Amino acid sequence: MSISEEMYLHYHGLIVPKETHSYESLEFAQGFKFEDDDVLAVTYPKSGTIWMQEILPLVLNGGDLTPIHTIPNWERVPWLEEKQLARVVDKLASPRALVSHFPYNLMPPSFCTSKAKVIYVMRNPKDIMVSSYYFHQMAGFLEDPGTFDEFMDKFLEGKGQRSHMHKRRHARKSIFASSITIVVGSVTGQPMSASFAVMFGKWTDHMKSWRNSELGDRIMYITYEEMAQDLPAALRRISDFLGCNLTEEVIQKVAEHCSFKSMQNNNMSNFSLIPKVYMDHDKSPFLRKGNAGDWKNHFSSEQLTRFTSVISKELEGESFSLPWSLD
Ligand code: A3P
Repeated sequence: MSISEEMYLHYHGLIVPKETHSYESLEFAQGFKFEDDDVLAVTYPKSGTIWMQEILPLVLNGGDLTPIHTIPNWERVPWLEEKQLARVVDKLASPRALVSHFPYNLMPPSFCTSKAKVIYVMRNPKDIMVSSYYFHQMAGFLEDPGTFDEFMDKFLEGKGQRSHMHKRRHARKSIFASSITIVVGSVTGQPMSASFAVMFGKWTDHMKSWRNSELGDRIMYITYEEMAQDLPAALRRISDFLGCNLTEEVIQKVAEHCSFKSMQNNNMSNFSLIPKVYMDHDKSPFLRKGNAGDWKNHFSSEQLTRFTSVISKELEGESFSLPWSLD
C-alpha cells in the first residue's frame, strides 16, 4: 500500500485524510438533513475554519462564552464530512453551526432545498499554501510536504511525487480517541495513482464552485484578510447576514474572544487536547502566525511568478474577481 493510500480516502475525485474521514462519515454527510436555520461556514483548508468555529457560536448566542470555553471546537461546530458529526449531531444547540471543506458540487441534496445560510471564507492562496505547508509538517495524519518547492508543485498541480515523500508512522487510532472509540478500519476504494491531489482538491476549483454557486442571499463571502484587518467590522457583517443584531458591546466582546491571542490561550480551540502523535505543536503550532502576507517570507521571485501564472490561468474567463492582487 502506498503512503497516499494509507493516509487518504478517495472521494469523488478528491482525497481526504482517513484519520478524520471514513466512507461512512462521507455517506452520513450526504444524508445529512439541513434545517432552515442551520449556518454553515465553508472554507478551503487553512483559510480560517477554526476561527469560524469560535465566531459562529458567539455570534449566534449573543456573546455567551460557555460553548467556546467548555466544548472543543470540533464538537461545538463540527465538520459536515468528518467522523465526529454522527457522534455529536444530537447534542448541537439550535441554531446549529457547522463547517465544511466540501466543494459546492458535493453538498448534500437537503442543503440545496433548505434555506440554510453559508459563509464562504476566502484567503489569499499564497498564505493558504504556506499555512498548509506547516500544517502538513505538524499533523501526523497528513503526508510529509517535502520541500517548500515540492509542496508548491503539489498545491498548484494537484499532484505530488511519491519519490520525494518521507514515510511516516501512520496513526492507527482515531485522533479523538480520548473522546470516541471509532478506530480507522481498513477502507477499500478506488486505487490511487502514483501521484495524488492535495486534500479537497485544487484551491481554484474550490473557489470557482462556491463563487459560481448562485445561492443568492443565502451565501455571504468574506475574506480572512478582512477579518484580520478589522475583526469588529467583519463581525458586524456576519451578525447582519445572520440576522443576529448584536449590540456594539457584544461585538467588541466577541472580537476580543476571537482574537488570535485569545484562541491561542483557549484549550478548547488550540488543539492542545489532541495527542502529540497527531498534532505536534513543537514542529509548528496549529495557531501558527495568524496574519496576512506571511507568504512574503517564503516565496522566491521565481516561485511567485510560477504561482501567479498558474492561478491566473486557471481563473481566466471567470466572472468574479479576486479580492487580492496575486503579484
Ligand atoms: P497560519 O498558519 O497562517 O497562522 P484553518 O482553521 O482553516 O485550518 O486555518 C488555520 C489558519 O487560520 C492558521 O493560519 C491559523 O493561525 C489562522 N487562524 C486561526 N484563528 C485565527 C485568528 N483568531 N486570527 C488570525 N488567524 C487565525
